[in-house]
Parts: sequence; C-alpha cells; structure tokens
Amino acid sequence: MKTNKLFCFIILFFFLIGCSPVKSKKEDKYKDFKEKVDSVLSLMNLEEKIGQMVLFTSGWDVTGPSMPSSNLQDIKSGRCGNIFNAYTVAYTRKLQNIAVKESRMKIPLLFGYDVIHGFKTIFPIPLAEASSWDMEAIRNSARVAAVESAASGINWTFAPMVDIARDPRWGRIAEGAGEDPYLGSRIAAARVKGFQGDDLSLPISILACVKHYAAYGAPLAGRDYASVDMSERMLREVYLPPYKAAVDAGVMSVMSSFNDLNGVPATESRFLLTKILRKEWNFKGLVVTDYTSINELVPHGVAANEKEAAELALNAGVDMDMQGSVYYKYLSDLVKIGKITEEQIDTAVARILKIKFLLGLFDDPYRFCNEKREKEIVHSKMHIDFAYEMACKSIVLLKNQNNILPLKQNTRIALIGPLAEAKRDLLGSWIAAGEWDSIQNIHQTIKENFGDKNVHYAKGCEIKKEEKSGFAAALKTVRNSDVAVLVMGESAEWCGEAASRSNIGIPEIQKELIREVAKIGKPIVLVLMNGRPLAIEEESQLSGAILEAWFPGSLGANAIADILTGKVNPSGKLPVTFPRNIGQVPIFLSEKNTGRPYDPKGTEQKYRSRYIDCPNDPLYPFGFGLSYSKFTYSNLQIDKPKFSHGDTIHISVKVRNDGTYNGEEVVQLYIRDLVGSVTRPVKELKGFQKLMLRSGETKTVTFKIDESDLSFYRKDMSYGIEPGEFIAFVGGNSSDVLETSFRFE
Ligand code: GLC
Repeated sequence: MKTNKLFCFIILFFFLIGCSPVKSKKEDKYKDFKEKVDSVLSLMNLEEKIGQMVLFTSGWDVTGPSMPSSNLQDIKSGRCGNIFNAYTVAYTRKLQNIAVKESRMKIPLLFGYDVIHGFKTIFPIPLAEASSWDMEAIRNSARVAAVESAASGINWTFAPMVDIARDPRWGRIAEGAGEDPYLGSRIAAARVKGFQGDDLSLPISILACVKHYAAYGAPLAGRDYASVDMSERMLREVYLPPYKAAVDAGVMSVMSSFNDLNGVPATESRFLLTKILRKEWNFKGLVVTDYTSINELVPHGVAANEKEAAELALNAGVDMDMQGSVYYKYLSDLVKIGKITEEQIDTAVARILKIKFLLGLFDDPYRFCNEKREKEIVHSKMHIDFAYEMACKSIVLLKNQNNILPLKQNTRIALIGPLAEAKRDLLGSWIAAGEWDSIQNIHQTIKENFGDKNVHYAKGCEIKKEEKSGFAAALKTVRNSDVAVLVMGESAEWCGEAASRSNIGIPEIQKELIREVAKIGKPIVLVLMNGRPLAIEEESQLSGAILEAWFPGSLGANAIADILTGKVNPSGKLPVTFPRNIGQVPIFLSEKNTGRPYDPKGTEQKYRSRYIDCPNDPLYPFGFGLSYSKFTYSNLQIDKPKFSHGDTIHISVKVRNDGTYNGEEVVQLYIRDLVGSVTRPVKELKGFQKLMLRSGETKTVTFKIDESDLSFYRKDMSYGIEPGEFIAFVGGNSSDVLETSFRFE
C-alpha cells in the first residue's frame, strides 16, 4: 500500500511538474542537440536517413498487436524509424529492442497513436470538452491522456485536432473545438500544453501533433476529404489561428491534411508547409503527413505517379510519410537522379532526430517502457475522477421549461430510448485503448440515483432501424410515470472520420417515438448523445428540457445522472451554432452584416438577406447554455470612451447569481468593428471568463482589450487595427447581451 501511495505522490509530482509554469531550458537543450544531431547524421547512410522519414502502422490481431515481418525487417535495417498504432510496454519494448539493439545506427523509434480524448480513461469527445470553456480542465484532460499513453509506451499523439468547423454535416466536427477561432486557439494551446507539458524530456510528456493542417474542416458540402476553397483573408482570419496558437504553445509536430486548399493539396503546399509554417510562424518541429496523403496526390491529379508525389511533398516541406511507403520507395532514387538533394533529406531527418533527442529517447530508449508505471497509472482513480469532472463540465443544458430539471428524488421516471443502455457509444469516436465493458450506462446510473422502483426502462426503438415493435411498451411505461427521460441521438460511428451526414436530424424512427410520447402529455426530458450539432427544432418544441451530453466518455453516464438529480449544476456552453435545419448550413456567429441585413424584429421585408420559409437565427446560438442558477448581468462599464496605439481599455460587468443553486457561468465578450476597409463580422468572440457564483453572490468581471484584439487583415491584406467605432457585447451567450460602444483613434 505504501508503495502505491508513494507512486501516486511521484506521479502527482510529475503531473504538477509537467504543468509547471517554470520554463525548462528547452532552448539550451535545442542548441546541444544541433551538434548531437549533426554527429548522428554524419554516420548515417542515405537509406538510414530515409528510414527516419518513414512511419508505418503496427497491426492488431485478435491475439494483440502484430507487425508484418517485412516491417520488422525494415526496423532492423533502419528503413523504418517510426511506428504508430503500437502500444503496451511489452510490445513497444519488443519493437524498440529491434531498433536499438539490432539495427546499425541504433536510433530509437517514435511510437505514435491517436490519443484524441484519452488513452484508457476516455474523456468526452473534444467538441464536448470545448463546451466546458474550461481551459484548465481541458489541459488536465490532455495531461491525463499523456500520462496514461506515456505509461503504455507511447511518445507521440496525433492530437490536438484544431480544425475550425462550421458545417455539422462533417463528421469530424466532433474532434475539434467548434466554429470559433478565438475559442479554438485557446483550446489548441491548452491541449498542446497538456500533452507536452513544459518539458518534453519528462517520461510523462508526449509529443503533440497539431492537425489537420490546414482548413480540413471546411470541405465542400461537409463531405469528408472534399475540396476546400476560400479567400486568403478567410483562411488567415478564421482557419489558421488555432494551428498558429498550437505552434506558439510549442507543439513540435504538425500533420498535413488530406484536402486540397485553393487547388493545392496541403501535403504538397509550400505556401502552407514552408512559407507560413516555417517562415512566418518559425515552426521548428517536424511535419508528418496524414495517412497515405502523399499517395493521394495522384488521385488529386497533381502528380502523375507516386514518385512525382514524393518529390512534390519533400519540396513542399513534408518530413515524414505516414504509411504511404512513398518516401520509402522513391526518395533514394530521386536523389540519385538529382530531382531532390541529400541536403533536403538531411534537413528533414535533422528535425526528426532533434525530437527524438528532445524526448530523451537517445538517453534512454526505454523511458516509456515501465511495467510498474503502466500498472499503477493507466485508468487510475485520479484519472477517472478527472474524466467525471470533465464530463460534468461538458454537458450543455439547452432547455429547462418551468424548471423541470433537476428531477425530484421520488420522481417516477420512464427511461426510454436506444442510447439509454449504450456503453460503447458513450465513448464517441477515436477511443484509443478505451474499453467500455466496465463503465456504467445511463440506465444503471439513473437507477442508482433515483432507485429501482422509480425507474422503468423501455428501449422503444433502435438508433436507426425502422422498427416500431418497441413503441407500445415504451408508451405504456410513460403513461405509468411522472416524466419521460428520452436518451436519443446518434451512434458513435456517425461521427469522426469518413462520417459525413447529409441529414443532421435525429433518425426518423426516434423522432416518431418522441412524437408519440409527447401525445401522452407527460413532461419530456431529452438527453442527446451526438457528435455534431443536430437539427432538432421539432424535438425542442416537444421537450420540456434538453441536455446536450455529446459523447461524454467513460464517466458520461454518471455525469448525466448527477445533473438530472441536481447534484451537479450544468455549466456547458455551445462551441458551435445549432441550426434549425440543414438548409441554414453553414450558419455561425461571426457572419457579415451584408448590404441588406435581415431584421428579425422588422416588418415583412422581402428584399433582405433571408429565407422565405425560415428565420435566419439559429435554434441555439454560439455560446448558449443554461444553468440551474439564474445569472443576471448589469452595470456594463468601459473605463474610457476611446483609446489609441499602445493603450488598452477595460470592459467590466456585474454578474449576480439570483438562483438557489451555486453555479458556474461563462461570461463572454464579443466585439463588432462597425466600419472597416473590408466588411467585418457582426460579432467576434474576444474574451471569456468562467467563474463560480454562489447563490446570491455578485462578482464584477473585467476584460482588457488592446489593439491586438481588434486587428484584422485589412483591404490590402496588411494586418492591424483601423480607427473607428466598436461595439462591445457581454453576456452568458452570444445572443442575450448588454452592449456599449467605444472608439479607437
Ligand atoms: C487518419 C486521420 C488522422 C489520424 C491518422 C492516423 O486518417 O485523418 O486524424 O491521426 O489517420 O490514424
């Protein structure tokens, strides 16, 4: 027992160190590595250098991890220097042994894995975590994922995914932080710091990889892998900031995306991979492709064959080929025929070797192979508690008519729906080494909280199958209860990669069941499990309360039950706009005013930017989320009516909790630049603060604004502020706000 406690203390120490504000002397270390890297390079032959630019996947058989013998031979010959999808100490140690004991150069392997929202302890999907607007919690989540991964032999995660997404048809909206560049940038930095800590050489820090660079989240028609086309201004104002925030936070690897951007596939874009990433942002890490994305330059139609593709990718700035075998097959030949130079190879290999030095792999190739740590750390109680807390923070209360919620202890509950007993779906997509056998489902946690005799479950229908045989039993259960709790939504398989939907509604069979339940007249609490904004206008009218639970992770069912009972007060806010229907998509907060703006309060205006069959405003706006508390905003103040270069202004507001529950509120600041050399968004998020307010408590929240907050890409594409009038909006969401104005001169 003593060892256990000591070990926890050590981990807690490492955990704190990993997040310590004290900067490690990384820059000095980097300079040392220059000499070390050059000396290793000088001993390598061309094949071994190219081997460091090769990343192959491990397999996974029923019996566990497996590797084709050809790949094992490649590791031994130095023709493969990096592996992904391999984990556990035993397996990574076995592969590392081959690299460092049997190869000529004995260069340690990188072990990458998609640790997106947890390794074994699965946190809510990233879009759910973004709903917490809690940077410390998000950083902790990444830290737990790093600690568990590192304890299992992994030293590289292909995360954070920071792609801005404004189209809910795109399944990968689930993996990011939503629609907004300001929120997305803050979250990108928090995740990088969580994964990498302040010192990559600690055995609980792993290399982060910001992806998918760039603008992968804006595919045509929301179809995954489809073309992306946008102005450079849109690219730089909206889609690039989160990647830059990750680079500024110290991320040491970047993944190039599948998509073409303005006609040039990202994986061969010198504009993205060299001009912006290296020259403008001074990125010093490595660039790895997405899975076979060099090979895909051929179907993109920019390379006649894979050898040409290899040349394009290397010339653009790609250092490592994920699973494509294109560098493996063709780089040597391209050097021999003079299409590329060995110096270019050396530049790429130097970046990779430096990272292996940064991770401490040359000091100790087995630093991530500690069986004891693996047993004691992975899925520890502390991590489970963190995952529970994050799940509670991620859930968004969208509706609570007449305070149906929280439910009283003796409420007779009809628990209905295809996801009420789901376990695998709770985890969402990209679940790494997550397991679901041991977690609880919502039926179990609700029974635990309300008592077996008060909870009567009837599935009612499947997620999608058009089969109504379960309706009768479900409706009978509702008739004999006080309230119907409906757990509805999507299968986890409907979000993530290659999961675009043309219809973003709840499946028809579930909608029919909700309609039938509503006819009975009992109050409806709708609990949504989904990985994207859903078009739920009808369901929102039929339900008295709606909890947006997303895919809430290993402890999600526990969090949902504790919110239904009122043990936990929901505090989530939407990081992405919920449209009324698919016809409004794309719809997002920071739209332009147009020359014929729609006025929802105006008279019937025909010649306006509007629909003839639907209002312009969304069902639920960006930043929206209710609480069991009641927050009142007053006294919006600005400390000066105008400011100029080098100056700042302070915007403050009083927030009072008029409710009986203590609760957390996210106070949001939006700004509008009224007149610019180009059209400007009607609102842009420029600040937020999440704070706890006890019942009856009032706090003053102050935001500091300087010219950097108001700068943008002007008509000539220079970046900066312009003089003029600005409006500041402050509130608990982007729609219900107090406003005031100020000038910059
Ligand atoms: C996938 C994904 C990427 C992931 C990679 C490795 O295709 O696009 O997000 O990191 O391959 O699994």
